[in-house]
Amino acid sequence: MTVPMITLNNGVQIPQLGFGTYQIPPEDTADAVATALKAGYRHIDTAEMYGNEAGVGEAVRNSGLDRSEVFVTSKLNNGFHDYDDALAAMDQTLADLGLDYVNLFLIHWPLPEVGDFTETWRAMEEMYRQGKARAIGVSNFQPHHLNKLLDSGTVVPAVNQIEVHPYFVQSDVREANAGHDIVTEAWSPIAQGKVLDDPTVVRIAERLERTPAQVVLRWHIERGDVVFPKSATPKRIEENFALFDFELTDADRADITALDKGERIGPNPDEFNYVPS
Ligand SMILES: NC(=O)c1ccc[n+]([C@@H]2O[C@H](COP(=O)([O-])OP(=O)(O)OC[C@H]3O[C@@H](n4cnc5c(N)ncnc54)[C@H](OP(=O)(O)O)[C@@H]3O)[C@@H](O)[C@H]2O)c1
Repeated sequence: MTVPMITLNNGVQIPQLGFGTYQIPPEDTADAVATALKAGYRHIDTAEMYGNEAGVGEAVRNSGLDRSEVFVTSKLNNGFHDYDDALAAMDQTLADLGLDYVNLFLIHWPLPEVGDFTETWRAMEEMYRQGKARAIGVSNFQPHHLNKLLDSGTVVPAVNQIEVHPYFVQSDVREANAGHDIVTEAWSPIAQGKVLDDPTVVRIAERLERTPAQVVLRWHIERGDVVFPKSATPKRIEENFALFDFELTDADRADITALDKGERIGPNPDEFNYVPS
C-alpha cells in the first residue's frame, strides 16, 4: 500500500495516513506503535498531554527504520503557553521522545481564557528556526484564532488539526484553513467508533466489501485531509491502513458528507480552557 504524501506550505512532506496514539496507555504505547510501523504506517501523532511520548520514541528508535522515514508529530500542552515555558516544553518533548527533532509541533488548544497565544506562536517560530521542529502548526483553532495568529506571526501554520468526522464535517474551518494554504488534519476521524454503525456507512461498506471504518477513512482521504486513526488492536491497525485499493463514488462521498449533524465529540475550542495542574 502506498500512502500519498501531502506537501505542507513550507515544502515538508507528510504521509496523508498516520497512526493516532490518544488514550493508548504509556505502558502499551511502544508495542502499539511498533505494530503500526510494521504494518506500514510512517506517521505517528502524539502529544505531551497523552503522556506516551516516551513509548512513541522508543518504538521509532527501535524500529530499524531510518529517522528520516518516520514522520512524528507532537503538541505543546496547555500549561506551557508562556514563551519560555513553551521553549522548555519542546526540549522536554524531545527528551521524552529521545529524538533530535519532531517533524511537526502543534499548539494543542487556543485556550481563550489563557489569552495570548501569539506569544506562544513566537516560541513555536523560534523552535522552527532552531530546527527542533521541521514544521509548526496549530490544533483546534477556529478561523478567528487563525486570523489573530496570522496578523502577528511571521510563519503561516503548516496544519490545523481539528475534529472532523461524518457527524461533524467542519466545512467552515476546513475552508478557512485551505484559504491560508494550511492543511487540515482530521482528529477522531471515525468519531471514536460512533459513526461505524450508521446505516449509510454500513450500506456503502457492504457494497464495496470493506469495513465501515475503511469507508469513513477513505472519505477523509478523498476529501484531502490528513488522518491518523487510533487503535490498540493489531487487526484494526492493519484494517485502517488498507485504504488505497478501493474508491468511493461521488455519490458515496456526498452521502457521507450529508450525515453532518454539527455534533462534536470533543470540547468546543471557544470554550475549552483546561490547563493541567
Ligand atoms: N488535537 C486534538 O485535540 C486531538 C483530539 C483527539 C484526538 N487527536 C488525535 O487523533 C487521533 C485519532 O482520534 P481518536 O483516537 O480520538 O479517535 P478515532 O481514531 O476516531 O477512534 C479510535 C477508537 O475507535 C476504535 N477503532 C479504531 N479502528 C477501528 C476499526 N477499524 N473498527 C472499529 N473500531 C475501531 C478504537 O478502538 P481500539 O483502540 O480498542 O481498537 C478506539 O476506541 C488520536 O489518537 C490523536 O492522535 C487529537
